[in-house]
Amino acid sequence: MIEVKSLSRHYGHLKAVDDLSFTVEPGQVLGFLGPNGAGKSTTMKMLTGFLAPTAGSARINGHDVVADSLAARRCLGYLPEGAPSYGEMTVLDFLLFVARARGIPAREVHTACERVVDRLNLAGVRHQVIDTLSKGFRRRVGLAQAIIHDPAVLILDEPTDGLDPNQKHEVRKLIAEMASDKIIVISTHILEEVQALCNRVMIISQGRLLADDTPAGLIARSRYHNAVTLAADDVRRIASVLSELPEVARAEVKEGELTVFPAGAGLFDAVSRSVAEHGWAVSELRYEAGRLDEVFRMITQGESA
Ligand SMILES: Nc1ncnc2c1ncn2[C@@H]1O[C@H](COP(=O)(O)OP(=O)(O)OP(=O)(O)O)[C@@H](O)[C@H]1O
Ligand SMILES: [Mg+2]
Repeated sequence: MIEVKSLSRHYGHLKAVDDLSFTVEPGQVLGFLGPNGAGKSTTMKMLTGFLAPTAGSARINGHDVVADSLAARRCLGYLPEGAPSYGEMTVLDFLLFVARARGIPAREVHTACERVVDRLNLAGVRHQVIDTLSKGFRRRVGLAQAIIHDPAVLILDEPTDGLDPNQKHEVRKLIAEMASDKIIVISTHILEEVQALCNRVMIISQGRLLADDTPAGLIARSRYHNAVTLAADDVRRIASVLSELPEVARAEVKEGELTVFPAGAGLFDAVSRSVAEHGWAVSELRYEAGRLDEVFRMITQGESA
């Protein structure tokens, strides 16, 4: 369990992290979202004992990250932002080094390394010097060192940043496989990743917690939640007809698409019926669950679309 109480970090007058409190339980995959400079990495550095808080406290499985730093760090795997490592070492030497530093018994060190080499598809580069690897491979080495001791808590700062779509998919699969019995905290700017991976989302901005919800709960805050969007040649004429329906609160035309917003239940059926009755040539008709990017902007900028 992670327990964070009134955690703050100041740099001079800047409150990079400002009075954050939250707890995370096993089985939770927490997505940490926020604009650039929101304080995500700073929070993660404090949780992992790399940076001392200015005020407040954090405990990992009951161990205070400052007073009991070593015990707290034993329970943790950490992928720092940008996945720094020892560039002059080969992949295997680096992983062996980390495994030993993590206190894995000598007879298990090789097995532990081979296991993560396998999981992160690093077999082809195990003897290559890290500095000569591509960005995506360096990220995978960073993930390998983070999980080598099978920690109960994983803190991953932008784990899929810079990966190609295949690798993003692989890393998300890996995180999902590990999720059931661990606590995983990931920061990301990729909103689909949050929907695909996380069962909880925290949005922070200027060091403060602005939202703490499930992905579905956040999406439901979108003004597009339960709206219907359609594409056709003559969306303006269609808009004026649909606006008369009792199920439609409002119609909006944007970039050649018409979105109608619900006045109550049954909007999609009512719109589909109208399309069929009028014989409109509609090229696309879709139900809107909501748009996470819009909710993110609304929460972090007080903007509504
Ligand atoms: N060592 C430092 N000295 C001074 N200011 C710092 C230091 N480290 C971070 N900051 C500032 O603290 C704020 C929070 O930075 P942080 O790296 O935590 O943001 P972030 O949410 O991780 O952003 P990003 O999405 O860009 O990674 C920023 O304004 C940053 O410039
Ligand atoms: Mg960051």
